[in-house]
Amino acid sequence: MICSILLLIILTSCVSGTFVVNVTQTSYQAEENHHITLEWTFTTNPHSSSNSLNIFCELLTDLKNPVLFHLHEGVEVPESQDEQFAGRVQWDKDLLREGRLRLHLSRLRTNDSGLYLCDVLTSYGSNSGRCWLNVTAARDRPEPETPNTTSPPNTTSPPQPESRGWIGLYCVVGLTTAAVLLIGCFCLFRNVLQREPDSHPPNISYRSADDGLEFNH
Ligand SMILES: *[C@@H]1O[C@H](CO)[C@@H](O)[C@H](O)[C@H]1NC(C)=O
Ligand SMILES: *[C@@H]1O[C@H](CO)[C@@H](O)[C@H](O)[C@H]1NC(C)=O
Ligand SMILES: *[C@@H]1O[C@H](CO)[C@@H](O)[C@H](O)[C@H]1NC(C)=O
Ligand SMILES: *[C@@H]1O[C@H](CO)[C@@H](O)[C@H](O)[C@H]1NC(C)=O
Ligand SMILES: *[C@@H]1O[C@H](CO)[C@@H](O)[C@H](O)[C@H]1NC(C)=O
Repeated sequence: MICSILLLIILTSCVSGTFVVNVTQTSYQAEENHHITLEWTFTTNPHSSSNSLNIFCELLTDLKNPVLFHLHEGVEVPESQDEQFAGRVQWDKDLLREGRLRLHLSRLRTNDSGLYLCDVLTSYGSNSGRCWLNVTAARDRPEPETPNTTSPPNTTSPPQPESRGWIGLYCVVGLTTAAVLLIGCFCLFRNVLQREPDSHPPNISYRSADDGLEFNH
């Protein structure tokens, strides 16, 4: 009787105890819009085919448990995946044969944060592993940066475009005044030029008149 109980305990420990699901990291820290790779490792059995592998991963929340990943008899079941993770999960089938489940989650959102649980069921045992993911908002970063980086250029950079604007204005004003002056000068010069031929013929005429007078004399 005692022997059979002991045998049963040994047998159950052999079946369930040897099959483990580990997490490579118990908690992950990431920023919004970035990506992360969550990794679980589990006991492999060379005598078992990959068709006997079932994996079910979900995010444990108070309201619902959205499914992150579902593998049924070695085949992924995309329909099971919650729309929250739709198109954002990538995994490696080759690594799965080595007992490594790597789930790459891209375009992280703050509400992806929480406890992730993966259940692994095989013909030689089953177990689960869990890890935390903490996604912090992206705006946490620029906020402390903007007052620090913008405060020194705040005093220098805003006047720059202003002064640039002023320089531009001065340029326009200067160019227009220069143009006006040039036109004015040109007009004056033309007037002078126009007057000069006018003043010469009278000289000539005076001379001719003088000549005429001389002739008259
Ligand atoms: C799980 O973790 C334990 C302790 O770190 C280690 O001895 C064991 O080899 C790991 N198993 C797998 C399948 O990763
Ligand atoms: C998580 O946040 C995204 C936007 O960042 C939103 O579209 C989605 O509905 C949210 N999901 C849940 C379960 O709150
Ligand atoms: C998530 O990370 C932030 C920043 O490091 C920290 O303040 C917060 O306590 C973390 N939350 C959890 C649930 O670990
Ligand atoms: C801003 O950054 C400078 C170094 O670039 C640092 O010395 C200063 O303490 C920072 N100020 C604030 C308010 O974080
Ligand atoms: C520039 O910084 C000063 C303090 O250094 C602040 O009083 C002012 O409001 C800032 N101006 C702008 C345009 O941010």
